[in-house]
Amino acid sequence: MAIAQKIRQHMHAASWIRGMFEEGLRLKQQYGDDQVFDFSLGNPVMEPPAQFYEALRYLANDPRPGMHRYMPNVGYPETRAAIAAQLAQETGVPFTAQHIVMVVGAAAGLNVVLKALLDPGDEVVIFSPYFVEYHFYVENHQGVTRVVPTDAQFNLDLQALEQVLSPHTKVVLINSPNNPSGVVYPAATIQALGEILARQQATSGRPIYLVSDEPYKKLLFDGVTYPEIYAYYPNSIAVTSHAKDLALPGERIGYIVTHPDCADVRELQDGFSFTNRTLGFVNAPALMQHVITRLQGVTIDVGQYERKRNLLCDNLQAMGYDLVRPQGAFYVFPRTPIADDVAFVKALQQRRILTVPGSGFGTPGHFRIAYCVEDSTIDRALEGFRKTAQEYGLS
Ligand SMILES: Cc1ncc(COP(=O)(O)O)c(C=O)c1O
Repeated sequence: MAIAQKIRQHMHAASWIRGMFEEGLRLKQQYGDDQVFDFSLGNPVMEPPAQFYEALRYLANDPRPGMHRYMPNVGYPETRAAIAAQLAQETGVPFTAQHIVMVVGAAAGLNVVLKALLDPGDEVVIFSPYFVEYHFYVENHQGVTRVVPTDAQFNLDLQALEQVLSPHTKVVLINSPNNPSGVVYPAATIQALGEILARQQATSGRPIYLVSDEPYKKLLFDGVTYPEIYAYYPNSIAVTSHAKDLALPGERIGYIVTHPDCADVRELQDGFSFTNRTLGFVNAPALMQHVITRLQGVTIDVGQYERKRNLLCDNLQAMGYDLVRPQGAFYVFPRTPIADDVAFVKALQQRRILTVPGSGFGTPGHFRIAYCVEDSTIDRALEGFRKTAQEYGLS
């Protein structure tokens, strides 16, 4: 057996997601790409903004000596300074380059942070529904995941959180706007969360870090402003990327932000530098760092996602689907009309609509639709959603 037992178990646990993906490929082969409505992956259909290509052209036409060489593990000082300046302007918090570490996307950023923070057995609290990979990331660094459910609106259930906090808690990991629910946690919730964590820290006598996974932070609808964690809890660390706000998921460029008032901020930065190196990332891609230095403050046209949200959710609600209307990201997480979410997702598959069962996100009885697709895909899938709704007695 070539593969380690633990990895084999994880692969098996996640194999049905893979199975859905493969079924999608089979359907596409059988019926043609345009006859299959693929809402299974959060891979944005949108192209990067014009400024991205301008920056690429500028750098290609005017290459600086050494611009593709190794660099400090935390990234280029000018890139980190540009990000810090933008963040300081947006949040009012006095960030400098010292608080930013460049990473290979948010996925790498989370691993860098967890690797630096966790001793074996330290607990990481996550909230269901959650991003599937969290369990694997925590386990990568010998942590233990504690899952706390959210409430009926997918907002944080802080009473349930208080039940699981213990002297073993090292990290509380949140994700807003949320994948898969699209929910944005309100400022009052973040404030109350900060108060609870501060109390728990004082009781247990060891720091608890609030880690905020924020790759969808700029994808907000209905005029919502983003409730920043920094105002409510000093021991906070944000992890983000330009995968969604600049539509660059394949370019793997992201960063970690440490609150200037975080306990041991200097030691944390050194720790992140070390784990970025020793996890084998070494540094975030050089070319992309040069590019995004010039793109701080630029975002794709979020209105397009809001329009897709409206098109899909208005129609689904009219068909009788029970859903919490998302205020951000590009996912919606409706209730399935039967308890068996896997069976319902298979029924949608019969109509060549590919979605993901809520079980995969720790929340059965729901399904995730990733609507970062062409409007025409949504339009043409509506008939299948409607017929499936009728078949299951929704009105
Ligand atoms: C909640 C969440 N966190 C992290 C990531 C990873 O983002 P990146 O592509 O920047 O690594 C994703 C990607 O879809 C995500 O949905």
